[in-house]
Amino acid sequence: MRTHFRLPKRSLIALLFLFSLSSSAMYFIYSAPGTVNEYLFMVQAQSIQFRKNVRTIGAQVYEQVVRGAYSNGTDYPFEFNLSEPYVQTTTFLPEGFTYLPNETCPERLPSMKGPVDINMSEISMGEVEQSLMGDSGIMLGGHWKPQDCVPRWKVAILVPFRNRHEHLPVLFRHLIPALQRQRLHFAFYVIEQAGTHTFNRAMLFNVGFLEAMKDLDWDCVIFHDVDHILENDRNYYGCGDMPRHFAVKLNKYSYLLPYEEFFGGVSGLTVEQYRKVNGFPNAFWGWGGEDDDLWNRVQNAGYNVSRPQGDIGRYMSIPHHHRGEVQFLGRYTLLRRSKERQSLDGLNNLKYLPQVTRKPLYSNITVNLTPELAPVSDY
Ligand SMILES: *[C@@H]1O[C@H](CO)[C@@H](O)[C@H](O)[C@H]1NC(C)=O
Ligand SMILES: *[C@@H]1O[C@H](CO)[C@@H](O)[C@H](O)[C@H]1NC(C)=O
Ligand SMILES: *[C@@H]1O[C@H](CO)[C@@H](O)[C@H](O)[C@H]1NC(C)=O
Ligand SMILES: *[C@@H]1O[C@H](CO)[C@@H](O)[C@H](O)[C@H]1NC(C)=O
Ligand SMILES: *[C@@H]1O[C@H](CO)[C@@H](O)[C@H](O)[C@H]1NC(C)=O
Ligand SMILES: *[C@@H]1O[C@H](CO)[C@@H](O)[C@H](O)[C@H]1NC(C)=O
Repeated sequence: MRTHFRLPKRSLIALLFLFSLSSSAMYFIYSAPGTVNEYLFMVQAQSIQFRKNVRTIGAQVYEQVVRGAYSNGTDYPFEFNLSEPYVQTTTFLPEGFTYLPNETCPERLPSMKGPVDINMSEISMGEVEQSLMGDSGIMLGGHWKPQDCVPRWKVAILVPFRNRHEHLPVLFRHLIPALQRQRLHFAFYVIEQAGTHTFNRAMLFNVGFLEAMKDLDWDCVIFHDVDHILENDRNYYGCGDMPRHFAVKLNKYSYLLPYEEFFGGVSGLTVEQYRKVNGFPNAFWGWGGEDDDLWNRVQNAGYNVSRPQGDIGRYMSIPHHHRGEVQFLGRYTLLRRSKERQSLDGLNNLKYLPQVTRKPLYSNITVNLTPELAPVSDY
């Protein structure tokens, strides 16, 4: 809907100021790839969120401004387009579509309805197991595959872990049914960092990848934070020709992509792509930077990153406090040398000794990490 308003000059200037504030902030963020200050982003995201609120619920606010403009007799033409961009996905198969056990599962199934009901309440693992184990055919280690068609992808879901026991069941309760509706063959690997060393998300992913490949011949790997809950089951967890970034819009970032090169939260690569980029770097101890480095590795290997369209890539994060997790302040130095480091540090220089146990819904890969496990000799 196109709406014509006439605004007084002063209101116009105030509005323009608000708009330009946000867009210049975005420009700043986009111009600083991988080195964005998250706090700064949050501040800006809030102002953008404010702008969005103004746009969506703000018709009444505008109306008042416009009324005032008319009553004061100032003239300044201004046009607003209050309709939100909306991506309509129409290519999903119709309800009741039947597929054959000997044929590949479609990618856009009628069972994928879109928005997922989210329940962030704490729940015990036992309760989730009980609700899922019934007739859904989940096997030890969280292995599952559809019986009514041949799954398109064999997907290993890797979840790096430490001290977040209450998050795991919340993740499983939402993600497992969604993956079943997507008719994927999948299993979960929770890679827990033991010992007292700083958390190393990237190295846990490398360990998880190598261990998962011993378990089954997977062809697609999803790198999944434990506190990310997908909001839309049309966010298909298969891989593709290009590495994929799934967690595009997070509620904690006001559902905006923090910066164009953002590759955090949930991402996925084929086994071939992951080997080609030599996995994640092992040298990122503490919070931040490893996902930016993977982005660089992917680019260096000649790939582009694909993303789900519109609101399909929305996620809600389980609220929590950063319990003593430290930021990795050396990340900018390492990121500048992503390219030189790529062939030296990753899957190819990693040694580790895991302790693997199978739980009903996941494999528990516990590993004690230290820098000595991933030496970079000629660097
Ligand atoms: C209209 O103009 C008067 C005097 O300039 C000003 O005090 C008042 O705030 C204006 N009203 C609106 C709604 O802008
Ligand atoms: C308003 O915006 C929507 C979405 O961006 C667009 O499809 C539509 O054509 C716009 N309307 C006008 C009148 O510009
Ligand atoms: C699957 O099975 C059906 C009937 O059993 C047959 O008509 C069809 O050709 C088969 N499809 C493939 C891809 O083998
Ligand atoms: C959310 O989950 C809790 C724990 O399983 C349950 O008691 C509650 O009824 C659920 N809430 C909704 C709205 O489904
Ligand atoms: C990646 O994107 C760029 C710019 O859109 C394009 O020129 C290039 O061909 C793409 N690379 C691949 C491998 O598709
Ligand atoms: C994984 O196993 C270790 C023991 O090997 C145990 O201490 C830890 O609590 C388990 N973690 C999870 C998430 O199951």
